[in-house]
Amino acid sequence: MTVTIVGSQLGDEGKGGVVDLYGDAADVVARYQGGDNAGHTVVHDGETYKLSLVPSGAVRGKIGVLGNGCVINPRTLFDEISTLQEKGLDPDVRVAERAHVILPFHRVLDGIEEDVKSESDQEVGTTGRGIGPTYEDKAGRRGVRIGDLLDPDVLRERLEYVVPQKRALVEDVYDIAVEDLDDPDAFDVDALFEEFREFGQRLEEEEMTVNASTFLTDAMADGQTVMFEGAQGTIIDIDHGNYPYVTSSNPTAGGAAVGTGLSPGVIADGEVIGIVKAYLTRVGSGPLPTELGGVVGDTPGYDEQGDGENEELATYIREEGGEYGTVTGRPRRVGWLDMPMLRHSARVNGFTGLAVNHIDVLAGLDEVKVGHSYDHEGEEIFTIPSTTEQWGECEANFRSFDGWPEVDWEAVAEDGYDAIPENARTYLEYLADELDTPIYAVGVGPGREETVVVEDPYE
Ligand code: GDP
Ligand code: IMO
Ligand code: MG
Repeated sequence: MTVTIVGSQLGDEGKGGVVDLYGDAADVVARYQGGDNAGHTVVHDGETYKLSLVPSGAVRGKIGVLGNGCVINPRTLFDEISTLQEKGLDPDVRVAERAHVILPFHRVLDGIEEDVKSESDQEVGTTGRGIGPTYEDKAGRRGVRIGDLLDPDVLRERLEYVVPQKRALVEDVYDIAVEDLDDPDAFDVDALFEEFREFGQRLEEEEMTVNASTFLTDAMADGQTVMFEGAQGTIIDIDHGNYPYVTSSNPTAGGAAVGTGLSPGVIADGEVIGIVKAYLTRVGSGPLPTELGGVVGDTPGYDEQGDGENEELATYIREEGGEYGTVTGRPRRVGWLDMPMLRHSARVNGFTGLAVNHIDVLAGLDEVKVGHSYDHEGEEIFTIPSTTEQWGECEANFRSFDGWPEVDWEAVAEDGYDAIPENARTYLEYLADELDTPIYAVGVGPGREETVVVEDPYE
């Protein structure tokens, strides 16, 4: 039986914490998409671990697999492993031979394209990790895969094909001299070959590369339990999200099959848990009909920091929830929970359970609101429209809930669901009813112990 953890909103829903909670029963934790654009926080024994690439299970001695659907920056991979080792851990990370490699020029191109787009206010606000350009090369059939790093002839051949194209893109399309860049070696075949061949040797020596499909299938045949750790979230999925303000992969549940080489039946036989933040945050651009206030640079059309009641509330929630990007440190945009978004997410992913985090952050407010539906062109609609332009025109219809008090959340976590303040339970039950999905867990604080566990998917 497998458990797939999926972000139901815009990323940063607290997936890392839930993987840590339920991952105890798993032997293997596999990521199936994305790369070091993710930022997952795991709090263990009073120590906070921030991971971007290595699966969250590595903190507790699980085998971490980076599936074929991931894009892997070997510099980040080995840096992160060293950091964990310095903290006394011994992470066991396996990397799919079919996964694509983020090369230094991908990062440079990510930056250049965002700069160019920003001239006409079209930037996505990416994490700058080269994710989009790497997936572009994957789809363009000119990418370098982890398996290619193991064979010097293949690696050189691939680089000799792709690097001159990237150099021409920078020089002829963007009109920038490669020699003027901070990292001109990013476009030098010999320099790239030398560095990435060494990564290949290290991956080989440390026996880190696998065929994810056979590795995971064999593990399950041996009776091991597997968890799939989605990064990012449904509304930044390249197909089902808010294009073009999306990442370039499929965080949605279907991605777990494609991105690991297991059949959709394996994923569907297990549980798919939607991680929901009790309000909304967003890093980067794109519409957000339930947004409170705004963040200059990210909120469309918001050029100057305003003030007023909603701004104050947004600032309050941002500070209480520590809503600053794990990877980039940027202030996250904040809004009320958006039900049309969650209905879309529940449908696309087929959630069997929900983990709702951060209800402690909202404690102490007099009133908690939810965008129940939208008004669009004179009609009430209950799911998000397909185009970003239409979504941007939607006005949220709010429902109001009575707030709940600040309480001793650790005690609540120990005592169980009924100890959650009544008004918060009303809020949770509304959510479960609307999405027709039971609540499996409720996050009442950042630590693993600060979680009310209603259902353990592995039991
Ligand atoms: P991820 O990207 O989905 O794994 O989430 P992040 O780690 O980027 O962001 C979640 C943040 O919220 C982290 O700092 C967590 O420690 C914290 N967190 C997770 N669940 C809760 C919760 O229920 N309450 C509070 N207050 N913080 C939480
Ligand atoms: P976790 O796993 C929140 C956002 C970026 C940007 C868009 C595209 O921590 O939930 P990219 O660098 O992927 O090309 O950026 O996607 N984004 C995230 N937002 N959480 C994440 O990951 C994100 N990963 C990417 O801010 O808007
Ligand atoms: Mg995050």
